Amino acid sequence: MTQQRLPPAEAAAAIRWAAGRFRRARLSFGHGTDNPLDEAAALVFHVGGWPHSAAPAAYKKRLPAAARAALGELVRRRIEERVPAAYLTGVTWFAGHAMQVDERVLVPRSPFAELIGERFSPFVRPHEVKRILDIGTGSGCIAIAAAHAFPGSLVDASDLSAGALEVARSNVRLHRLGRRVRLIKSHVFRGLGKRRYDMILSNPPYVPTRDLDALPEEYRHEPRLGLEAGKDGLRVVRAILKDAAKHLTPEGILVVEVGDTAARVAAAWPRLPFLWLGFEHGGGGVFLLRAGDLKSPRKAPGARRGKRHVG
Ligand SMILES: C[S@@+](CC[C@H](N)C(=O)[O-])C[C@H]1O[C@@H](n2cnc3c(N)ncnc32)[C@H](O)[C@@H]1O
Repeated sequence: MTQQRLPPAEAAAAIRWAAGRFRRARLSFGHGTDNPLDEAAALVFHVGGWPHSAAPAAYKKRLPAAARAALGELVRRRIEERVPAAYLTGVTWFAGHAMQVDERVLVPRSPFAELIGERFSPFVRPHEVKRILDIGTGSGCIAIAAAHAFPGSLVDASDLSAGALEVARSNVRLHRLGRRVRLIKSHVFRGLGKRRYDMILSNPPYVPTRDLDALPEEYRHEPRLGLEAGKDGLRVVRAILKDAAKHLTPEGILVVEVGDTAARVAAAWPRLPFLWLGFEHGGGGVFLLRAGDLKSPRKAPGARRGKRHVG
């Protein structure tokens, strides 16, 4: 067996070393980072045992030999097996909160993080938000971040996948939110009884079946149930739109990420006045509807685009 050379000891040099390899391997970035340097830094900080907040001072630190060997192995797996970095480290960040992840859940990366950071301004009065539902909670990231953002609320989080709910449970425990976040195994609204919510949030699966194979290899490490949504990608969105009105309070809002299927959604429900939200930090394909919009859908005057950001 040939002896592999260890990565450099200095953190900054190790980051440059790993990023160079990632660049040459033409990896796909889309699981929490969007460039080789950030991806490399996540792995170096992980083996160093340093929090992200230790940057930039930590760039000068030196990694012991065991950490350098561990880094070499993570970089190898990232390149050869195309494993997303978050699965290699077991943790990622969402709306400023740590989330444990493994291959039972999608790696959190939804633009919902930005909406939650702004407490859904200007669409709700935060102190009036008492009940929130997150459909397809996966790791629990949206439910947990929403619970932090609205401390006076109770959050229900549903998912069809028992494995995902186990991961979500450990995250709820990590965040000490067991009294406020309830996890429910359910197909969309089915297991929720007649409960109504001030906000229904969802990042459901929305990739059409035939598009799955075209996704970069990294996505094959993610659960198919988290991505695939039938022939047109609308299977779960359709179930949400069908029954959302029955589960919203009179002033409630429904916010759903549909990504690249936005045009198809707008075309499939031409009478619904979707408000398509804008984002400062990237992402899109997220619509907002009010309870009233769902009860008596009026003729849509064409797609509306939400401007939450001034200037
Ligand atoms: C795109 S992932 C989103 C996970 C998480 N909310 C996030 O933003 O990272 C979609 C999630 O919906 C779940 N799911 C798929 N079909 C579902 C259904 N019919 N009812 C409830 N959850 C479903 C999947 O198991 C997966 O965890």
